[in-house]
Amino acid sequence: MARSALLNVMVDAVRKAGRALTRDFGEVENLQVSHKGPADFVSAADRKAEQILFEELSRVRPTYGFLMEERGVVEGSDPAFRWIVDPLDGTTNFLHGIPIFAISVALERQGQLVAGVIYNPVMDELFVAERGGGAFLNDRRLRVATRSNLAECVIGSGFPFLGQGDHGRFLAEARLVMNEVAGIRRCGAAALDLAWTAAGRFDAYWERGLNAWDMAAGIVMIREAGGFVTDADGGDRMLEAGSVLAGNEEVRKRLGAVLAKA
Ligand code: IPD
Ligand code: CA
Ligand code: CA
Ligand code: CA
Repeated sequence: MARSALLNVMVDAVRKAGRALTRDFGEVENLQVSHKGPADFVSAADRKAEQILFEELSRVRPTYGFLMEERGVVEGSDPAFRWIVDPLDGTTNFLHGIPIFAISVALERQGQLVAGVIYNPVMDELFVAERGGGAFLNDRRLRVATRSNLAECVIGSGFPFLGQGDHGRFLAEARLVMNEVAGIRRCGAAALDLAWTAAGRFDAYWERGLNAWDMAAGIVMIREAGGFVTDADGGDRMLEAGSVLAGNEEVRKRLGAVLAKA
């Protein structure tokens, strides 16, 4: 697959940040960790990866703005372009030595998501997508799964950490979903949940209580893998709603109908 110059910029940045995360993952017990909330952690690894992404992306595209999880909003001189960055998606996994985490970088142009890169450095799995150009995992073209019979489907999800979000609502939804599907997975990194859905590993995925940086790159990935993505209530404002529901058209619809009963 021949990558565009833009995707090359994104890939170089995430690979560099990925090397830093891999080093820190090897010495996770020595990392400085602080709390943003009761079970909302941020470590020196999150900040270091974010700094690398900020430097690399600003060097190559100096006029673009940023929305980053740890640093927040950084205005650019060109209001048309904005990077949406999660430097370490799956911090809880990372700090527990669970190798399911990723870097997620998306580009928004005039309010539209146009490119996304999600990289798990431990598995060396690089997911890339650009609007109109398809989605790829390590240069292999991705398609969402074709199953739509819920009883055969494995569904990804996530639920709020301690002190955040509505556990009752999640349990009500999960209970209904559990009665219909083959299985539910909670892997702990929303960007990877979307990438894995784009790759057909999950038949569908839903989660509430997310932020723009958890979802932005994954949304491009799903669409470019031929999938459909809405918020968890079927609307089209995922980033604003902070929720997502993704899969092939039919399974997304069927799962949405189950969630609507909760
Ligand atoms: C978290 C992960 C998790 C999801 C949380 C996110 P972080 O991101 O994506 O799977 O359930 O809502 O906050 O904090 O590890 O980047
Ligand atoms: Ca976090
Ligand atoms: Ca995240
Ligand atoms: Ca994060």
